Amino acid sequence: MPQPTPTLPLQGRIALITGANTGIGRVTARELARRGAHVFLACRSAERTRPVLDEIRGLTGQTSAEWLPLDLADLDSVRACAQAFLARNLPLHLLINNAGLAGARGLTRDGFEMTFGVNHLGHFLLTQLLLDRLKASAPARIVTVASRAHKRTAGIDWDALTRPTQSLTGVQEYAVSKLANIWFSAELSRRLAGSGVSTYALHPGVVDTEVWRAVPWPLRPLLKLRGLLTPEQGARTSLHCAIDAPAQESGLYYADSHVETPTALGRDVGMAVELWQRSEAWVQQPARAKGDQAD
Ligand SMILES: NC(=O)c1ccc[n+]([C@@H]2O[C@H](COP(=O)([O-])OP(=O)(O)OC[C@H]3O[C@@H](n4cnc5c(N)ncnc54)[C@H](OP(=O)(O)O)[C@@H]3O)[C@@H](O)[C@H]2O)c1
Repeated sequence: MPQPTPTLPLQGRIALITGANTGIGRVTARELARRGAHVFLACRSAERTRPVLDEIRGLTGQTSAEWLPLDLADLDSVRACAQAFLARNLPLHLLINNAGLAGARGLTRDGFEMTFGVNHLGHFLLTQLLLDRLKASAPARIVTVASRAHKRTAGIDWDALTRPTQSLTGVQEYAVSKLANIWFSAELSRRLAGSGVSTYALHPGVVDTEVWRAVPWPLRPLLKLRGLLTPEQGARTSLHCAIDAPAQESGLYYADSHVETPTALGRDVGMAVELWQRSEAWVQQPARAKGDQAD
């Protein structure tokens, strides 16, 4: 007698993950697909995403992964990405704001400090544009990959967020962007109370990926001194938040698949609200007009 096909835990679930062509995002996308999810890989490059699509299709034996073009340093690209997804008229159960960079310098196309623009503001807009679909698909989750690097900043200089990267290494700007990730996830949870959509921010560990590729080369070995996790190990907390973390733990910050307490600044509700309000204004009124290339 033919055996019934076992049901996979995420069968019928749809996930969208940013920065899934390499590192932690690649493993996260693959593992979600292995558990039955249909995954949209929102990435900059078709060429760099193709090996991941092939890997997932090889593992699952199905066309369970698709590429969506997304450059988080360009808010028009973020809008086009959300529109392309929404046009498919599919539910969305999992949004994973994973993409990130460290050590990049300059401004985004819309005139925001590069690391802040990519790591926070692009994800802020993407999430806003997909929020109604997530609510309509509840229970749903939004996972934002932050970092314990948020501890390395004592505050936020709002004016600096519309100026080119000031520090030589970009590490200070990275810390600010990861603090913003934590504020964003917590404030989003407060605004989503009762909607069936829960949010999680996390530190993945110190992981051997390409994230430090833009940091000046003499510094890179210093950043990698401690025992590094593999990308497989680094994806565990993202997967825990996406699949297993209780919905009642919405808005919290995780490390090593457990709730952790961010810094006092990371828990500051007033600052989280201020970031939210400023982000709303910024995505409507960019810091500079497109085409103005002055850095
Ligand atoms: N590795 C660590 O030790 C560590 C520690 C704490 C937190 N994190 C966080 O973990 C997340 C994943 O990083 P990772 O370590 O896996 O680094 P990674 O290997 O460098 O992957 C980063 C991903 O983000 C994408 N990305 C960068 N800029 C983008 C843009 N403008 N638009 C769209 N996608 C963009 C990259 O795409 P391209 O390939 O096209 O550049 C890549 O897919 C990041 O948020 C990072 O801050 C990492």
